[in-house]
Amino acid sequence: MKEIALLCEKRNAIILAHYYQEADIQDIADFIGDSLELSRKAATTNADVIVFCGVHFMAETAKILSPEKKVLIPDIDAGCTLADDCPPNEFKKFREKNPDHFAVSYINCSAAVKAQSDLICTSSNAVNLIKQLPENLPILFAPDQNLGKWVQRQSGRKLTLWPGSCLVHETFSEEAVIKLKLENPQAKIIAHPECQSNLLDHADYIGSTSKLLDYSQKSDRDTFIVLTEPGIIHQMQIKNPQKTYLEVPGIDGCSCNECPYMRLNTLEKVLNCLRKMSPELKMDENIRAKAYKPIKKMLEMSS
Ligand code: 13P
Ligand code: SF4
Repeated sequence: MKEIALLCEKRNAIILAHYYQEADIQDIADFIGDSLELSRKAATTNADVIVFCGVHFMAETAKILSPEKKVLIPDIDAGCTLADDCPPNEFKKFREKNPDHFAVSYINCSAAVKAQSDLICTSSNAVNLIKQLPENLPILFAPDQNLGKWVQRQSGRKLTLWPGSCLVHETFSEEAVIKLKLENPQAKIIAHPECQSNLLDHADYIGSTSKLLDYSQKSDRDTFIVLTEPGIIHQMQIKNPQKTYLEVPGIDGCSCNECPYMRLNTLEKVLNCLRKMSPELKMDENIRAKAYKPIKKMLEMSS
């Protein structure tokens, strides 16, 4: 940890971390946030180097917004099922099949898909952005169908959905949620909108990782059943150590509620990438410039 701090100073580097990172990575980070906050931070930092402790599409977003900076990612293989299951050539066909549609893509997609989109959203601003679009505009929504269904319900807008989903948020056991609620009747159920609708139906509050953290802090309740990746519980415990946060196991009681991609990053890999200044995220300038437009639009519409 000391060496990481020294190298950050020497290289004028900032460490950005998502809430699903291991606790020790969160502890050394300069900034922790949800996807929207991390994008905003990447766009405004004065650092020369961004060490992005998250997954590949998040580091790509940082590069799209700050092309002059060096963006390092501790493990270049830290992907995301949503991004990986929406290949740019298939997305192109999806658009061609619906030529009159406006394409809104969840930030969990590759730069090449962003480059073909009209607007980007995150789980924290999706409903608000969709509500701002003209009522008669037909809309495509990719790649998360669970988030898309929730946005449809919240906004009253009909969306044509790409059939993707997150392997982590699809794994939570509804039976386990009901059992936890029966054992803890005072507990509030808080959920990320990437969960399937049968799980969201049990939730008292639905929101992005930052919003879930904020809700658990401000609520007068002292127990929470947390329907998202359990990495977020570290910050919940730091902010309100006297409260209880219950994670929900996967269907078979497995620990597949942990994102296997986010968890590829380790403190050792953070140190190594700062020592070697690698792996570095590189991007084709043509794709970057095209992907920048719908992200810029998102930041303007959600400011
Ligand atoms: P947030 O934008 O809520 O941080 O979510 C990102 C993510 O990948 C959730 O699985
Ligand atoms: Fe992607 Fe799901 Fe991991 Fe989030 S939790 S980064 S959506 S695989």
